[in-house]
Amino acid sequence: MKILNLGSLNIDRIYSVEHYAQAGETIPAKTYGEFCGGKGLNQSIALARAGAQVFHAGCVGADGGILLDTMAAAGVRTELIRESSEPSGHAVIHVDPEGQNKITIFGGANSDVTPAYIDDVLTHFEPGEMLLLQNEISNVPYAIEKGREKGMTVVFNPSPMDGGIGRCDLQKVDYLILNEVEGRQLADTDAGDAQTILEKLRQKYPKTVLVLTLGSRGSCYMDEKETFYQKIFPARTVDTTGAGDTFTGYFLAGIASGRPPREAMEYAAMASAISVGRHGASPGIPGFDEVHMKMARLKESVMQSPEQERRK
Ligand code: RIB
Repeated sequence: MKILNLGSLNIDRIYSVEHYAQAGETIPAKTYGEFCGGKGLNQSIALARAGAQVFHAGCVGADGGILLDTMAAAGVRTELIRESSEPSGHAVIHVDPEGQNKITIFGGANSDVTPAYIDDVLTHFEPGEMLLLQNEISNVPYAIEKGREKGMTVVFNPSPMDGGIGRCDLQKVDYLILNEVEGRQLADTDAGDAQTILEKLRQKYPKTVLVLTLGSRGSCYMDEKETFYQKIFPARTVDTTGAGDTFTGYFLAGIASGRPPREAMEYAAMASAISVGRHGASPGIPGFDEVHMKMARLKESVMQSPEQERRK
């Protein structure tokens, strides 16, 4: 199945720090690196590395050659991306010693996605194909509307959450992939537990497939037929930037290729566990063979009889 990801492309400026600076404080960074990122770009690369046929659409500035080259090298189709007169979007990311991050984004060319451009991009796709969106470009509500009108499967990752989400008709979304904070806001609840968040979201969006990510506590899947929990796979964490994007890309690649949701969630969890052990958002996204091999090894070790285990 063809997947259209209409999403952001950023240059990520990543600083590793001992702690986040307080107001009025100046701190030195231990390391600095520039990587390709943006939730859109990261998810396209994850989709492509997972084996999906993905077309990325969005806008870059005259400085965006590296973004296009990096995506093309990963197997993403980039011919629909438009050059804007604005500079490419960028993100300033501080990563602490636990691998957690604080991110500030500047939209730049990502804010130049117009309704006319969206209309043009959609002419290249058919009903039944997948449209993936995040909340880092302009005119997301319009894209949801038009994607649904066209009969595409609309997938929305409402991240980062802001006031603009209120203008999106989420009844027109087939898959919502969101974290706990976003889930609570959309469900309009202070509840701490995932089950309550999911049930409230289910009441609001009865037909939407829900995927709720819970960071180090795993993730949950809910559709009209089943609800289940997916644990995380333990990993040494150096940088969590882009782990959620890796999860989203791998999950959707699995669904698009016809894998059952449980398997798609397992592969997504394994891919994001591998990614947190590496620096940078897009460079940390593993290839399918690595993820598949780790899954196979894991299944093998679970299948080992106690006798085989003793012989090791
Ligand atoms: O999800 C991680 C991404 O968020 C980074 O790559 C950064 O560009 C921001 O968009």
